[in-house]
Amino acid sequence: MEAERRRSESGLSIEPVYGPDTLADWDPATRLGEPGRYPYTRGVHPTMYTGRPWTMRQYAGFGTATESNRRYRQLIANGTTGLSVAFDLPTQMGYDSDAPLAHGEVGKVGVAIDSVEDMRVLFDGIPLGEVSTSMTINAPGALLLLLYRLVGEAQGVAADRLTGTIQNDVLKEYIARGTYIFPPRPSLRLTADVFRYCRAEIPRWNTISISGYHMAEAGADPAQEVAFTLANGIAYVRAALAAGMDVDDFAPRLSFFFVARTTLLEEVAKFRAARRIWARVMKEEFGAANPRSQMLRFHTQTAGVQLTAQQPEVNLVRVSVQALAAVLGGTQSLHTNSFDEAIALPTEKAARLALRTQQVLAYESDVTATVDPFAGSYVVEAMTDGLEATVLELMARIEDLGGAVAAIEQGWQKSEIERTAYRVQREQDAGERVVVGVNRFQLAEEEPYEPLRVDPAIEARQTERLAALRADRDGSAVRRALGALRRAAEGTDNVLPPMKEALAARATVGEVCDALREVWGTYTPTERF
Ligand code: 3HC
Repeated sequence: MEAERRRSESGLSIEPVYGPDTLADWDPATRLGEPGRYPYTRGVHPTMYTGRPWTMRQYAGFGTATESNRRYRQLIANGTTGLSVAFDLPTQMGYDSDAPLAHGEVGKVGVAIDSVEDMRVLFDGIPLGEVSTSMTINAPGALLLLLYRLVGEAQGVAADRLTGTIQNDVLKEYIARGTYIFPPRPSLRLTADVFRYCRAEIPRWNTISISGYHMAEAGADPAQEVAFTLANGIAYVRAALAAGMDVDDFAPRLSFFFVARTTLLEEVAKFRAARRIWARVMKEEFGAANPRSQMLRFHTQTAGVQLTAQQPEVNLVRVSVQALAAVLGGTQSLHTNSFDEAIALPTEKAARLALRTQQVLAYESDVTATVDPFAGSYVVEAMTDGLEATVLELMARIEDLGGAVAAIEQGWQKSEIERTAYRVQREQDAGERVVVGVNRFQLAEEEPYEPLRVDPAIEARQTERLAALRADRDGSAVRRALGALRRAAEGTDNVLPPMKEALAARATVGEVCDALREVWGTYTPTERF
């Protein structure tokens, strides 16, 4: 019976059988390198997980700061080794909880943060000098970083001891997800201001998490995910260089964020190819001399779009395979989705099971016993080379369009992703692409599942907190501080120092963003058909 040849998600052909001829003229020394050495194909550290396991960093946050603080304490008690804050959409879009546009969204997909007071509650009892905290916040990323610094100061933690990451990647918001505020140019100015500010004030902070995850969730295949992400990375590097910074002053604190799909072999190849490409770009195109500037350090989240609402327990298996792909691919930090997330916010039990999945991989399996276990594998090395070639072609295409920002303004990445998403959906509808429990192996009758419900009274409580804060603070001090921020935004001074003064005077997230909206305007997407 003829063996069936399959194509990978990125369109690479997968041979039914590989053999020595695959790697006949392939030189390990130049193609692979050593773990922890340029071009980092095998991982960014010589010892990888044999030295330190990846950070188990579960994305969480909902309701008010009090509810989220409780969930973080549970996660820490269950063994999570890094925090990851989910903010609600009003916070992500720079609106206060009592803004008309916020109605119905307060505390829903993440925690509502309006002021330094909310931030203090969010980290109550959590020592900021001892944890690393990721914050999934983009357009207002600078504000949440400064609120975090203010809470650290209140805890007596010096800024140079704070560790964590702000996502701060607005370019991918224009392509997917959509939580942007300002137009691309002022957004890139603000990103460069964060780079410069952190270099001087918060040197251990990862200033950006250049994300492919959301573009993958919108439909990008692995090659598009890596190509569009690295092209955005190049745009940020160019913006920081244009702002007068030296590449080795900020590049060591760039970080990345990718998805892990169930197609394990290609995902492992994807991570290895991404590290090799980025290392070459930083060394050869930008002349980065510091090895840390050449390392692609990344967080991974298992694929949310591959979770099914049907037979939700089957998601436990998908997440396990996806988590294994991330680990075999050398991730630095990992979030495993809860099996019930296709239905609603994860229950505490489901969130704990997601974390236990990582702990089984780290402490019961042998995948942490050796570095880059797939090195030398016929199929994974062939796919790593194949993906590298495909990604480089896509990156060259973006360069031809004038770079990532110009391509975004033409709507190119967005339309490429939509094309892929449409093809995948068509394959699923035709049954050519199996989704267990959805288009094959279905149940006649789905079993009922009781999801977690978010208290609708959250919005009212958060609005009362805001009214009390505005009544209690020194309004003229806030107005003066916001005026100083506007003047900095109109000029070329770094906007973070006056922004910190305003937040310390208890200006709200919405008021600070409104001050910047008045100066920079807001972005309206160009629709490309
Ligand atoms: N040998 C030597 N040193 C090692 C080592 C080894 N084997 N392993 C780790 N280390 C060191 C590291 O070098 C680092 O030292 P440093 O502080 O001097 O740099 C330290 O140990 C900590 O290791 P990492 O920095 O690798 O681990 P972190 O977890 O602290 O950082 C990161 C990982 C990827 C660099 C960071 O940017 C990060 O944590 N990112 C997380 C992003 C995130 O959680 N995003 C969530 C997004 S949710 C979302 O957007 C999706 C939603 O919309 C659905």
